[in-house]
Amino acid sequence: MMKNLQLPQKIMLLGAGELGKEFVIAAQRLGNFVIAIDRYGNAPAMQVADASEVISMLSGDDLEQVVQKYQPDFIVPEIEAIRTEKLAEFEQRGISVIPTAAATNYTMNRDRIRELAAEKLGIRTAKYAYASSLEELMQTSAEIGFPNVVKPVMSSSGKGQSTVKSATEVATAWKHAIAGARGDTQKIIVEEFINFEIEITLMTIKQWDAPTIFCPPIGHRQERGDYQESWQPAGISKDKIAQAEAIATKVTDALGGAGIFGVEFFITKDEVIFSELSPRPHDTGMVTLISQNLNEFELHLRAILGLPIPKIEIFAPSASAVILAQEHSEKIIFTNVAQALTQEDTDLRLFGKPDSRPYRRMGVALAKAETTELARKKASQVASTISLA
Ligand SMILES: Nc1ncnc2c1ncn2[C@@H]1O[C@H](COP(=O)(O)OP(=O)(O)OP(=O)(O)O)[C@@H](O)[C@H]1O
Ligand SMILES: [Mg+2]
Repeated sequence: MMKNLQLPQKIMLLGAGELGKEFVIAAQRLGNFVIAIDRYGNAPAMQVADASEVISMLSGDDLEQVVQKYQPDFIVPEIEAIRTEKLAEFEQRGISVIPTAAATNYTMNRDRIRELAAEKLGIRTAKYAYASSLEELMQTSAEIGFPNVVKPVMSSSGKGQSTVKSATEVATAWKHAIAGARGDTQKIIVEEFINFEIEITLMTIKQWDAPTIFCPPIGHRQERGDYQESWQPAGISKDKIAQAEAIATKVTDALGGAGIFGVEFFITKDEVIFSELSPRPHDTGMVTLISQNLNEFELHLRAILGLPIPKIEIFAPSASAVILAQEHSEKIIFTNVAQALTQEDTDLRLFGKPDSRPYRRMGVALAKAETTELARKKASQVASTISLA
């Protein structure tokens, strides 16, 4: 694979958000041609891509049309909600789907990847069960025990998710899950609540012709199902890092292909518990935009193209903090930017999203310092100084 790589390559990016934007920038730095696709126009990655198209990525016909038009060498998904059966077809026609078409299908919903990890590979996850009606949810909740976490099988960014403390809260959780589900399936997953000390993302780089390698683990804090801040290194023991690396290798080997994966774990006092994974850059991994010699987007690109990754180095303890919108607006103006950047070793990404809604992520603040505590403080200060007018 990739023995005689020639550049430029033609890369079709499915999903054109802020992670896609940084990936496009990485790809273009090596002169590649990138087509950014999303369901709305002027999406962040479209602003820096060579070409862009607005389609429904859940439509096989729409995907066929853009693939016919551009004939890409690579298809690189940035989101989960894609007609993944169609990707398998493209793969058969010789287009390289990243990491593989099968992997995008496994990770599209929560159930298949969970079953692969827990049942096929015997990896420790939270105990889980499914339900397709309120009655079933009542029963499975009782079996899993309280507190538990109820999630639609098909959702992301915490949509439709709730922590259920007792039987009296099950009906509310059911309604919330059904309302937050993507697509029309009513399948709900109930998970044992893990009382973790910290949760981490282990950025795992699977290569075509070289061993799997890792970034130092990234710690993060979530609210409403979206990450608020992340920091690197996570500050967990060598032994737990080794356990997480072994699990990440096992799961990504089962999925195959090449590229970066964000493998999420809950770390308790005694255990390393696999949660889920993204077969692509991870939002918490944006901290690598300041922390590392090669950021997660550059690593993804190198892995995809089969380019060497001789070293992953972290320069200093680092952190990222998100900049969220508070209201609906179609005129996005940031103020206090100069005040925000007065401290050394801080930086900023403003995504250029064309509109906002409450809690929509509009930018991210980045910082480096002597310790992760100080880096977190600095990044949070930068983020909270910026205002959205
Ligand atoms: N079983 C659990 N026990 C404790 N906390 C949980 C559990 N499941 C989820 N959470 C919390 O909710 C967050 C979001 O859950 P999860 O990662 O499963 O959802 P998501 O919607 O897929 O998020 P994303 O795709 O944006 O990473 C987790 O990062 C964690 O903080
Ligand atoms: Mg997650």
